[in-house]
Amino acid sequence: MELLSYTFFLLFLISGESVCANAQDRRTKILTHHHHTYGGFRPTKLFVFGDSYVDTGNNPMALASSWKAPYGVTFPGKPAGRFSDGRVLTDYVARFMGIKSPLPYKFLRYGPGKLRYGLNFAYGGTGVFDTHNMLPNVTAQIGLLQRLIKARVYTKRDLKASLALVAVSGNDYTAYGSNNGTRKGLPAFITSVVNQIAIDLKKIHEMGIRRVLVNTLQPVGCLPIQTVYSSYKQCNETENSSARYHNQLLQEVVTTLNNNTKDSSFIILDTFSAFNTVLNTKAILTGKPKLSLRPCCEAARSDAKCGSLDKNGKELYTVCKEPKSMFFWDDVHPTQAGWRAVYLALRSSLNRINA
Ligand SMILES: *[C@@H]1O[C@H](CO)[C@@H](O)[C@H](O)[C@H]1NC(C)=O
Ligand SMILES: *[C@@H]1O[C@H](CO)[C@@H](O)[C@H](O)[C@H]1NC(C)=O
Ligand SMILES: *[C@@H]1O[C@H](CO)[C@@H](O)[C@H](O)[C@H]1NC(C)=O
Ligand SMILES: *[C@@H]1O[C@H](CO)[C@@H](O)[C@H](O)[C@H]1NC(C)=O
Ligand SMILES: *[C@@H]1O[C@H](CO)[C@@H](O)[C@H](O)[C@H]1NC(C)=O
Repeated sequence: MELLSYTFFLLFLISGESVCANAQDRRTKILTHHHHTYGGFRPTKLFVFGDSYVDTGNNPMALASSWKAPYGVTFPGKPAGRFSDGRVLTDYVARFMGIKSPLPYKFLRYGPGKLRYGLNFAYGGTGVFDTHNMLPNVTAQIGLLQRLIKARVYTKRDLKASLALVAVSGNDYTAYGSNNGTRKGLPAFITSVVNQIAIDLKKIHEMGIRRVLVNTLQPVGCLPIQTVYSSYKQCNETENSSARYHNQLLQEVVTTLNNNTKDSSFIILDTFSAFNTVLNTKAILTGKPKLSLRPCCEAARSDAKCGSLDKNGKELYTVCKEPKSMFFWDDVHPTQAGWRAVYLALRSSLNRINA
């Protein structure tokens, strides 16, 4: 198992998603509204780019595990294209904004849909470079929005009132490993990934989107796909430090980008720290001293994964009784409860959107 994890993502959601603002968010909204003329930014649309940490349904139904049981068991109650038992980061960022989670791009072809909340262009399994699937990389995802802008589906004014969420969570490194990339070559490859992220972020902002969020790489050494080798006891420190290096470079390019734009347009969403806080803080999810690193949905054999069936349709995985007491759903993705806890840990950075 070379670096980072095998992250295969995807997913969906056509209608009926009702992530609406809770009372607290609504109060904040009213307050901010009053101060609007003093420079507060209250985005009304969300455009999403990246991988399975933010995809809500773009991957092909026939291929993606996100469209198979037991994915979606908590929300919406059946497989619907998210790589979790329920909501993912996108849904919580939308909730923070007080809007519905934006429609996955793939459902545009069924009709205009709910374009007013923005669109989700993220495809599970993708990266900034190509990752051995036929799915669009981040640059190509941005191209999908550029086409809609040319077609005047979204105006300059719409974009000015918009927020972008970009998640690049490790698929480029998985692909590097499967291309037989060496440990020695890794730092240079990390540099090229981060430089490409910077190019993509700049492009998104230049299209007219006012603020752009980008995630740090989570502590990949703590993902079940890594910790399985220690029976889910210990994070892999080597992997964690590669993530730290990625994040340090990301911080530098984002500082430079902000230095070159007027109003701190680029905001880092520190998922690395948020994952660590949730994993290391006593009782944050369960009241127990330490959170288990074990995934809720666990493959029963090494050639299977969560959602796999054998030839006779028998399940090749087990599912825990209470997904809400587990942080990880499958070998690389958090549960809804995990994402919610991460979201709460991210709220102070999210507040910078409105500054
Ligand atoms: C940790 O990750 C490194 C780099 O991928 C790997 O060489 C090493 O074997 C892993 N250690 C454990 C204990 O799994
Ligand atoms: C992204 O995908 C497009 C279309 O397949 C390809 O032409 C381009 O080189 C890719 N970009 C990067 C940075 O790999
Ligand atoms: C990586 O190495 C393995 C084993 O040596 C080889 O079979 C495989 O073709 C290589 N893959 C690539 C993409 O070079
Ligand atoms: C990474 O792994 C180390 C070693 O197991 C662990 O202590 C730490 O909490 C993990 N996260 C970070 C940020 O180092
Ligand atoms: C910020 O921009 C100024 C002027 O464009 C430049 O002199 C300075 O070196 C930049 N600082 C950083 C950290 O990029």
